[in-house]
Amino acid sequence: MLEVKALPLAELRQRTSEKWREYPEDVLPLFVAETDFPLAPAITTALQRALDAGDTGYVASRTPLATAYAAFAERRFGWHVDPARMRSTADVSMGIVEILRRVTQPGEGVIVMPPVYPPFYDLVEEAGADVIRVPLLDTGAGWELDHSGIRTALEDGARAVLLCSPHNPTGTVHSRAALEQLAELVEEFDAVVVSDEIHAPLAQPDAGFTPFLAVSEAARRVGFAVVSASKAFNLAGLKCALMVADDDRTHAVLRELPIEVVWRTGQFGLLAAVAAFSEESDAWLDGLLRTLDENRVLVQDLLARHLPGARYRVPEAGYLAWIDLRALEWGDNPARRILREARVALHDGAAFGAEGTGYARLNFGTSPEILAEAIERIAALVRR
Ligand SMILES: Cc1ncc(COP(=O)(O)O)c(C=O)c1O
Repeated sequence: MLEVKALPLAELRQRTSEKWREYPEDVLPLFVAETDFPLAPAITTALQRALDAGDTGYVASRTPLATAYAAFAERRFGWHVDPARMRSTADVSMGIVEILRRVTQPGEGVIVMPPVYPPFYDLVEEAGADVIRVPLLDTGAGWELDHSGIRTALEDGARAVLLCSPHNPTGTVHSRAALEQLAELVEEFDAVVVSDEIHAPLAQPDAGFTPFLAVSEAARRVGFAVVSASKAFNLAGLKCALMVADDDRTHAVLRELPIEVVWRTGQFGLLAAVAAFSEESDAWLDGLLRTLDENRVLVQDLLARHLPGARYRVPEAGYLAWIDLRALEWGDNPARRILREARVALHDGAAFGAEGTGYARLNFGTSPEILAEAIERIAALVRR
């Protein structure tokens, strides 16, 4: 296992991505889902080689990407999937839209489960479908799929479920049993599941993550997965994702996508993803998971010590902390006050759906020093 530590703030400020350019220098940016770690060495090598060779043309028609992902899925999740049944595209969002466009008719319903990654609402609309909200159930100890709400939505005509697995922003890893039940339900109504598994490589080893298509025969028949190396390996700007099917009918949908969808894949994204999915990067990913495990607990300790009014459940995957700040009585959008007065940028909870009102999302894919400074700055508002 490699030690994966975040870069110092002064180096991070040299970056020109959204995380580092949206706000002035006195703001600690913990909003957008980019991470502050150096690249995995195999990725740097692959990109450097391409730069040296001027290898910046279009992605080739035949590439090792699908085979690399299939090997990664087998090693990391024990999921055996056929590389011939995958298609690449620029990003996960585009993969979701392209699939939804083809499995729904204009105006048909697609179920989303708030609080959820805010662009889901726009992606469903971009595909010409209508958003049907079936919120996750807050059990008091965690969040669960609302199977009975999903059944009602399917009875009312919804044709697809847009699943976030693991779930952003709560970091929930849905149990295999819950996903099995979802697959049966969806098959009963001859609908489909599009499973966004962008955070899957970041599921903690003890969380029991199961890829949707690996859950059961029914899931394999009704499911599409959209996957990417971009969250775990911080490659979002390079543009590469994979759509995965594992059944003749769903594979036909991917096979019939216009070739332009595949051509939108970024050449650097593809080269970086092949390196990320290679066995050589496993030790780096294990090191990252260890660091995120420490950080998710550190957030809990820092909140308990400095901001006891905040409620937070340690996530099972990813680097996003979903924090309930309602007890502090900072209004519907506490992130606004935190930005203005504490100079820390969080993501506004209400953007994830009405269920997120009074919440904020904090990105802990950074150093312990930055996390401590951010939470101390926020806590200082309470003491004022
Ligand atoms: C659940 C989820 N899906 C999709 C995306 C966006 O992925 P992409 O940049 O590949 O479209 C994100 C980004 O944070 C995400 O959290």
